Order: sequence, then C-alpha cells, then structure tokens
Amino acid sequence: MTLPRTAKVPFGGDYNPEQWPQDVWKQDYQLFDLARIDTVTLGVFDWALTQPAPDVYDFTVLDRIVARAATEGRMICLATGTGAHPAWLARAHPEVCRTDFEGRRHRYGQRHNSCPSSPVFRRLSAELARRVARRYAGNPAVVAWHVGNEYGGACYCDLCAAAFRGWLRGRYGSLDTLNAAWYTTFWSHTFTDWAEIEPPSALTEHWRGPDHTAFQGITLDYLRFMSDAMLTNFRDEKAAIRESSPDLPVTTNLMGLYRPIDYHRWATHLDFVSWDNYPPDDTSAARTAFTHDLMRGLKDGQPFWLMEQTPSVTACRDVNPLKRPGVLRLWSWQAVAHGADAVLFFQLRASRGACEKYHGAVVGHAGRSDTRVFREVADLGAELDRLGGATLGARTPARAALLFDWDSWWALDISDGPSRLVRYPQVVLAYHRALWDAGVDVDVVAVSADLSRYDVVVAPVLHMVKGDLADRLAGVAARGGSVVTTFLSGRVDEHDQAFLADVPGPLGPLTGVRVDEWDAREADVVNPVRLGTGPDQVEVASRLIFELVVPQGAEIVGTYRADFYAGTPAVTRNAYGAGEGWYVAAGLDPTGVSWVLRRVLERHHLVGPYADVPDLESTVRVTPDGTRLRFLLNHAARPVEVTAHTAGVDLLTGDRFSGGGVVRLPAYGVVVLKEER
Ligand code: GLA
Ligand code: ZN
Repeated sequence: MTLPRTAKVPFGGDYNPEQWPQDVWKQDYQLFDLARIDTVTLGVFDWALTQPAPDVYDFTVLDRIVARAATEGRMICLATGTGAHPAWLARAHPEVCRTDFEGRRHRYGQRHNSCPSSPVFRRLSAELARRVARRYAGNPAVVAWHVGNEYGGACYCDLCAAAFRGWLRGRYGSLDTLNAAWYTTFWSHTFTDWAEIEPPSALTEHWRGPDHTAFQGITLDYLRFMSDAMLTNFRDEKAAIRESSPDLPVTTNLMGLYRPIDYHRWATHLDFVSWDNYPPDDTSAARTAFTHDLMRGLKDGQPFWLMEQTPSVTACRDVNPLKRPGVLRLWSWQAVAHGADAVLFFQLRASRGACEKYHGAVVGHAGRSDTRVFREVADLGAELDRLGGATLGARTPARAALLFDWDSWWALDISDGPSRLVRYPQVVLAYHRALWDAGVDVDVVAVSADLSRYDVVVAPVLHMVKGDLADRLAGVAARGGSVVTTFLSGRVDEHDQAFLADVPGPLGPLTGVRVDEWDAREADVVNPVRLGTGPDQVEVASRLIFELVVPQGAEIVGTYRADFYAGTPAVTRNAYGAGEGWYVAAGLDPTGVSWVLRRVLERHHLVGPYADVPDLESTVRVTPDGTRLRFLLNHAARPVEVTAHTAGVDLLTGDRFSGGGVVRLPAYGVVVLKEER
C-alpha cells in the first residue's frame, strides 16, 4: 500500500467547519473554488463531537461535513479524531490522562493528552476509528485516513510502568539479561523482580530534567518503549480501520526532527509518510530541506505528503513572523522538490476562538478573497492545476546518504560527558547543510538502510553502532565509496555500553584511527584547524569537542593549531578497499565541514551544477517514466541569474532554456525544469 492515487498534487488542508455555522460552509467552498483547493482534511479533533457520551456515537455533523465535501468534489483526508480525548472520558476514567515526568497525574485539559497504555483509551480510540472507517470507507471522496494527530510526548503513570515491564520482558527475556544490558552492578541497581523497575523520571533516576539520568540504559529503553507504545496506539486504530477499509492508505502527521518518536521504528506501519512543516524561523531553508529529506527517507524514498504548513503565521511561538510575499509558494515548491506529492495547509479557515485564533489560514475571520495571503494561495493552486501530475511519484536520484539515528540522538542527549554542548541534531544539520550548499541530492536514512546504492555516506556523531552497521559502512568504502564520520562516533553498543576497544570501536578499521583522549571546552574556545597542504591549505575554527587522534594507517588531512595537542590530527582520511574512510575529530565550523565534504563529493563528481550560487537550492526528481525534473529555488529576497547546465522547459511558465542559456529567477522564484539531454 502506498500513497493515495491522485491525478495531480492534492492542494488544500485542515478544514474544521464544525467550529462555525453551516451557512458559512457555502462561502468556504466558494473560496476553495477560487483557490483551486481540491483536498480537505476533516475531523482531526472531533472525538467529543462524534462520541458525546460513553455509549453514544453521533455522526450527524460529520456526515454533513463529509457529504458537503464530497458533493463539492473535494478529496477527503479523513481523520479518526483521536488526537484529543473528550472531557467526559477523563472524568469517567482519570487514568486516560497522562502522568508527567515529575509524577503529576494530569487532569482533563489540552490535547495529545492520552496515556498510551490506558486500556480504556486504547479500546475507545480504536472503536472510534473503526466506526469512522465503517461509516465513510465507501465514500469515493475519501482518499486517505489520518490517524490521531502529531503523536508525541510521554507518560509516566503506573499503567505505563506495567506496560514498560512487559516491553522489557519481551526485549530481554530474563532479568539477568536486563541487568547486564543496563549495567546495574554500578550503584547497586541490580533488579531481582520485574516489579522493582520504575519508569525513569524526576522521581527515580533523573535530576535536572529528562536529559540527566544515572542510568542511560533504562532511560534509553523508556524512550524506545514510549515511541513503541504510541506506535501501538496508531496500529490499534489502523487495524480497526482495515476491518472495513482494506485499500485506502493510512497515515498520521509526523513532525520531522522530533525527538520523542523514533520515526524509523514507525515507518513500516505507515502506508505513506506525511508531515507538518513549521520551521523555527524564516532563515531555515536548509533545515527544512533536511527535514524533507529525513521524512522522504522513512519509506525508502517514497514520496510523502506535506500535511500541514501555515500559509502566513504560526501562533504557538512567542513571536510569530509573517511569511514574506512569495515564501508560501517557495516553501511549497521546496517540499515538492524534496519529494512531496501533496501540498496542504493548516488551516483552510481560521478558528474564531481558543489558542489558534491568530494562527494563519487561507481564509481569515472576515472571509475575504482579496487578501494577499488568499491571492498567493490561489495563485499556487492555479499553478499546481496547470502542472497536473507531472511530479507525482517522482524519486530523488540520490547517490549520497546521510545517516540519522534516533538511538544515537537519545544516547548523546542523555550522556554525562564529554559535553552537553554537542547537540546531535546541530551536528547532523551542519553536515547536511554542507551537502545542501554543494547542491547534492541526499537521502537521509536510517542506520539500517540499504547503503549499497550510495557512493558517499556521511554519518555524523554516529554515537551508537548497532548490528552489522560497521560492516555495511566498510562495505561502502570497500567497493570504492567514501564514508565520513566524526567525533563521538563508534562509542557505544545498542545498550549504551562503551565498546571494550579503541575508539571509534567497530569503525576503527574503516577510519584507520584510534582516539585515546578527548577534550571539551566552552563554546567560546576555538582551536584553529589547518586543512590541506600547499596552495589548497585553509585554516578553519573548531569548537566544543577535540578528540586526540592517533593514526593507525590513516593519512592526516587536518591538524590542530593550538593547545598541547597542536600539530596532531583533527581530520584524517583512510584508504580502505577501493574507497576511503574519513574521520573528523573536531567540531569544525561550517567552512571546515564544507571543505571536507567538497573533497569527498568531488571524488565522486557529485557537486551540483548550481552549487556555488548563494541561496539557490537545486534538487532533482526523476518521474516514473524517467523524466528528470530539476527544481531551482531562489531563497534570496533578490533576483538571481544562472546558466542552465542542460536544455529544458520550465513546467511552470512553459519557457524553454537552451543548455548554457540564462535562467532568471526573481526574489523567492521557482523553476521546475524538465531537462532535455
Ligand atoms: C500542528 C497541529 C495542528 C495545529 C497546528 C498549528 O501541526 O497538527 O492541529 O495545531 O500545529 O500550527
Ligand atoms: Zn501512562
């Protein structure tokens, strides 16, 4: 099962007409017509509406909403509505509310608020999904199921404690194995009965919050367990849907770089990936590119849906900047450029009350079509209409991969030492940024992914090395590829126990180095690193972490310039088989990271044709019939001109370019070049 089959890129978003009078719905659809909105996501927070009391299911309003959307010819992404439980449920069964990290049992309020282990929640959420599916599966307007909403957070209640013990029994079988995995001899923590095991929280192993634990093993397993517990909730609902809807794809909206849920563990259970893009600020084009690549990597490069983005502003941040004219379009195309097969907004019409009344919407409180935001949405709608199905199903032909691993993220975040300042996502983003600047198509993939199709594999802070990963990385180099890894890699096994070997553990043979010592300093301490030799030589800064490398066959590419380890290696390259294993031992600045990755990419001729044009992003997708689409995205607020490196036709304007001809992109401009070779 894969994505919904559509004739064009679905365009629309979350639509909550249950919040306003029915006589407004007519106006809504007139406006949707103007904006070419063909897809509505319905019922995301409808539990209290569809089940107003324990034994009462009432679909009167949802029936009307669904019927209206169908009559109006829209595609429907229909939610099960379980993202927030009703007040009566919390009153009747207080255990459906979560217990937080501090041990406080919450009372009714907010959303995304259900204990994942509560049998009542599990039974009733699945039952609601079952009834929604049974009722609407036959409606041809429904093209996809949307389970829950933005799964996340955590619960530390007694039900979760019991479920955790069950999960641990399944994982370890015996207490001896568990004690060994968690290294419980340390501080006399040996467990002699499963019932002694408590969720790791502020009341037990933690101090100073979720990242400070006395035992990494239990904390890591609780993170894994919680991700699995919520996955079970998703699967409960999916199974209930499947009883009456065998063929319609099921998804839930993910959140990109979101720590609490290991999306790689979820991916096989989603028929297709969808995600909500709310970048932290408007200078995050590279970060957003990373997140799209991460989401596309979840299901082996299968296209995904952009389920939510704001057309204009968010409301949840302390300060909520407005998307500049053109940015709504640019970021929508950026999603498509990275593999999105749908462009959807939160939200189609603004809520009048509660905490999202100032969140941007296609249609504001006044219901106007003559606003800038509405016009930009409508222009994009028209553009996507003209494009038809040209991009659907297209794949990214990446020959470079970047490894991303929730276990390594968690393990590093909860580690005491070497430095709390080294943040896994920041390092990964820095390496991705350098690849992005080089204009190379990159897949962000799990450590379990098939690496045989890549020439370059970048594995920043690969802290935890599991299973046969080291062998598979060595295999990339052995057949001529290049592998790049960094400081704090190859440190621990799947139980967060140090390898009883030289650092970087199982990556030693590939990298040809040994690390005996490491230094960590405050962020303002710089150790300059000299990279390269002769005319090619540059000096860059390194910060935060400085590993002391003893080459074991590797060639020295960069050296520290300061401190007692001045002159010793900071960057190395090891010939391995027909390829290379690079080791970056220091927290290089962006110039340094780029310098290293450019050398690696150049070896494989992977640097993109528009690499050195500032703020110009370029990606490729190849359609199922083999057509190469080159996306050019100008992230700058000023125009840019580039030389077309191949002939082609811009699918958005019909303009034809000859190879070597000039392509002009206005501020925030987009070109989708159908390449002719
Ligand atoms: C999330 C949720 C939506 C809404 C938006 C607002 O993505 O899924 O329900 O709250 O954020 O930005
Ligand atoms: Zn719980």
